[in-house]
Amino acid sequence: MEAKKRIFSGIQPTNTPHLGNYLGALANWVKLQDEYDCTYSIVDLHSITVRQDPVKLKKQINESYALLLAMGVDPDKSTVFIQSHNCNHAELSWILSCYTQFGELSRMTQFKDKSAKHPENINAGLFTYPVLMAADILAYQADLVPVGIDQKQHLELARNIAQRFNQIYGDVFTMPDAYIPKTGAKVMSLQDPTKKMSKSDENPNASISVLDDRDTIIRKFKRAVTDSDTEVAYREGKDGINNLMSIYSAVTDKTFEEIEKEFAGKGYGDFKLAVGEATADRLAPMQSEFARIIADKAYIQECMKKGAEKAFKTTRKTIQKVYKKVGFLTL
Ligand code: TRP
Repeated sequence: MEAKKRIFSGIQPTNTPHLGNYLGALANWVKLQDEYDCTYSIVDLHSITVRQDPVKLKKQINESYALLLAMGVDPDKSTVFIQSHNCNHAELSWILSCYTQFGELSRMTQFKDKSAKHPENINAGLFTYPVLMAADILAYQADLVPVGIDQKQHLELARNIAQRFNQIYGDVFTMPDAYIPKTGAKVMSLQDPTKKMSKSDENPNASISVLDDRDTIIRKFKRAVTDSDTEVAYREGKDGINNLMSIYSAVTDKTFEEIEKEFAGKGYGDFKLAVGEATADRLAPMQSEFARIIADKAYIQECMKKGAEKAFKTTRKTIQKVYKKVGFLTL
């Protein structure tokens, strides 16, 4: 039997994921588990490039981890772990930083954006963030990396680093490719449907957290910005309705055609309520699973430990190879 291809992806623990994160990416993580050898990480090391409150961060890391399990990421099938629980990420990151050019990192658009946003804290970690991300990916010899469009430049850099290293030392790293899911809804803001739904939106009605309760979800959809037309139809210029249709389609598996039929002759009010209810229904099983898991500290600990051990074992092999190649002495 051919070995399964390896997938690696990471998510920052800084906020509870929103509906866009879930439908666009995380729901896919769950689906990929049968076909691929998956490793998923809560990337806490990355999160401190922006100042965090330690008490809040600790809670968020724990909850993010529990949420992955609640969504259906299976700790027996996949490797699910907290990045800082595996020291090999930071170790490899140092090595790779010596094979990354200052100029390359200076061109990263996320660095430019983030340093413009936090001029008071342009720390070296913010600058070398993409090297740590390259280390995440290359340490696992990942074949595929599911990433959003905003991370493609970082993945491209990881490929360049891998290629450079391999050119000097021979085949050490697997060349990772971006994994672009066949399906996966792009979810826009409920208040400005020309913008992506974002965790950092100031307007709380613009995004749905995956842990929002049913009433909150329905209320936010009721307030969603639409247009002055009355027809539920997917058409250019109807950004608000198009977004609600994409969401409804993603949570119910209905096609746009079916949705248009279902709401023919009905008003936006009926449609918004239906989208709210369907979204709440879709999230409900995960939410109750989350409530159960978060109360079970021993289970979470056990999963974290198992995940960290698996992650360490896989990545230590890479580190040993790398150390040998660069000429370090083994003890
Ligand atoms: N930088 C990614 C983000 O903010 C998270 C991340 C860290 C990641 N390491 C990764 C994603 C490795 C994919 C692979 O979304």
